[in-house]
Amino acid sequence: MKPIAAWIAGPALLALVAAIPAAAEEKPAAEKPAAAKPAAKHKASKGDATKGKAVYDMYCWTCHGHEGKGDGPSAAGLPVKPRDHTDDSKMSKLSDDQIFKTVKEGGKSVGKSEQMPAWGGALKDDQIRDVVAFVRSLHRKKST
Ligand code: HEC
Repeated sequence: MKPIAAWIAGPALLALVAAIPAAAEEKPAAEKPAAAKPAAKHKASKGDATKGKAVYDMYCWTCHGHEGKGDGPSAAGLPVKPRDHTDDSKMSKLSDDQIFKTVKEGGKSVGKSEQMPAWGGALKDDQIRDVVAFVRSLHRKKST
């Protein structure tokens, strides 16, 4: 079996879990066999990294930097440094659900610094899923 199949199947499952709160409004993407998809990038439930980049460039870059390296202009004044989202060794340990929760409810909700704000008031769940997809693209880029 090619390793690429695992890369596709894993994120697809996580995306389904992340989609549960919104399940009432969304078609269950699960009905199609995930392994048969070449890229699985266009599923609504998975989040759209291109739209996510727009969100990131509006709300996140001040601390995390436009390229996600944690070197935005506000980072210098923070007691806790923002995560370098391009660091695959750290970021690949996080599930999509964990990232979603961190973004929606803030760093404190997952035992991290409250310097990472909660965005649930400013962003819809769909937008958060988009930004999660974009954050994923920042660190997975390296390994492909
Ligand atoms: C005010 C500065 C600031 C802004 C704005 C900000 N963050 Fe953060 N973020 C942080 C800090 C600081 C941390 C590190 C928290 C820690 O490690 O305890 C963090 C951590 C994170 C983490 C957790 C990484 C991990 O290792 O668990 C994610 C995911 C994240 N930010 C995503 C975002 C997204 C997406 C946005 C925009 C919607 C955003 N952040 C906006 C400061 C910020």
